[in-house]
Amino acid sequence: KVYTDYFFDEPAFNTHDGGFVPLEEAKAPQQPLNIPPLLKPDKETATDTYYTVAAQPGETQFLPGAKTKTWGYNNSVLGQTIVFEKGKHIHVTLKNELPELTTFHWHGLDVTGPYVDGGCHAPVYPGKSSQIDFTLDQPAATVWLHAHPCPETGSQVYHGLAAMVLVKDQVEAKLPFPRNWGVDDIPLILQDRRFHDDNQWNYREDYDPDGVQGPTALVNGTVNPYFDVKTQRVRFRILDGSNRREWRLHFGDNLTFTQVGSDGGIMPAPVKMTKLMLTCAERAEIIVDFGNYKPGDEVVLYADNVPLVHFRIHEFAPDHTQLPEHLVDINDPEVTPGLPVRKIVMSGMDEAVALNGKKFEMQRIDARQKVGDVQYWDIVNSNDKEGGMVHPFHMHGTQFTVISRNGHEPYPNEHGYKDTVGVNPGETVRIKVRFKLPGLYMYHCHIIEHEDGGMMAQILAYTEDNLNPHYKLMDMDTL
Ligand code: C2O
Ligand code: CU
Ligand code: CU
Repeated sequence: KVYTDYFFDEPAFNTHDGGFVPLEEAKAPQQPLNIPPLLKPDKETATDTYYTVAAQPGETQFLPGAKTKTWGYNNSVLGQTIVFEKGKHIHVTLKNELPELTTFHWHGLDVTGPYVDGGCHAPVYPGKSSQIDFTLDQPAATVWLHAHPCPETGSQVYHGLAAMVLVKDQVEAKLPFPRNWGVDDIPLILQDRRFHDDNQWNYREDYDPDGVQGPTALVNGTVNPYFDVKTQRVRFRILDGSNRREWRLHFGDNLTFTQVGSDGGIMPAPVKMTKLMLTCAERAEIIVDFGNYKPGDEVVLYADNVPLVHFRIHEFAPDHTQLPEHLVDINDPEVTPGLPVRKIVMSGMDEAVALNGKKFEMQRIDARQKVGDVQYWDIVNSNDKEGGMVHPFHMHGTQFTVISRNGHEPYPNEHGYKDTVGVNPGETVRIKVRFKLPGLYMYHCHIIEHEDGGMMAQILAYTEDNLNPHYKLMDMDTL
């Protein structure tokens, strides 16, 4: 079966929003797609890997003329790609070379909050650095790093503080997937910006409490990119790294592709489709077979009706690899008996956004769940069906599974682990949540201006022998 729709409710697409900024075809000449290089470890042993990640200011040439002032991780914008191997003890030095406080949030990693995971309680002050270390026990996945200093997350991510992070393991390594970085394993970090005078970005001027948008698409920080296809099959790791924009993707001639991974890793079964919609912070790994094209052809990836990436087909060796029907096992534990369903309501728009009727407060712990317990959470988007928006609900510190949408089956590509799920207006999405590590974790809408605007809360994951761990929490005033 090949799916041919975007799954989400059409009346909820951001195109219907009064403040929607449609993408415009870039007038800049085509440029080769940037491939953020793999970050080299400072040191590596059989058991440990050491990295340094520096948040730094820089300048980036996006368009002819002036360079744009940007921020990035070990790079002028976005970042080098960081690879973590499951089971290794990872040490990271976090350096802040920016003129303001930042945090380093590992979106999608199962690491403890509120410090290691780099939410708003883990500031690194300008000119300072800090150290974290962790060992991952989660499957191979495409996750990411972004700044998370509440309520400046929107501004810092918009400045460029976002990078792709890959988790690798032995299970994924055995699957017949392309994995030659930059050749047939290609990141696609999707963002949109508005270029003002002198090619500068201006977050404050473009501010919209429902999410900042711009008319120019950037893919890995490239305006109007092309990519030379030199192998028959290519794997794309797609990340919606935008503050607000949903990406509706399809190829020019409705080429069928196969989704094999979502936020938390490889999906149990591949899903064939011609259209893919991602909401903010979601990831999808797809495999595209260019076998029916010949050298000299061009295949275009579109977002809505705007060309996003031009794939130029070159000579390649035939590849008859078939994907297995079953890819990985998903461990789906039973719900712990006796636990009520936890209800999370995302309400409002603009400045009125709230979670369970409240705005986020750094010092308030909103909920508790015991480590190891498995609980249903019902995520409600109380916006109006007509005129509301899709809120992408995200949790720190764990990967969940999606059980149902308004009591119906989740979308066909939602059967793997997820950390972000788009909730349509008027919809209740039931997810199954289990924390593996004690800590304090945030959960929020990933339209970043909604998160900064307070559509966020935090939960304590506790253990029997430490019912009330004490964490030093940030305060709005200490910013
Ligand atoms: Cu990607 Cu709390 O965020
Ligand atoms: Cu996160
Ligand atoms: Cu929202």
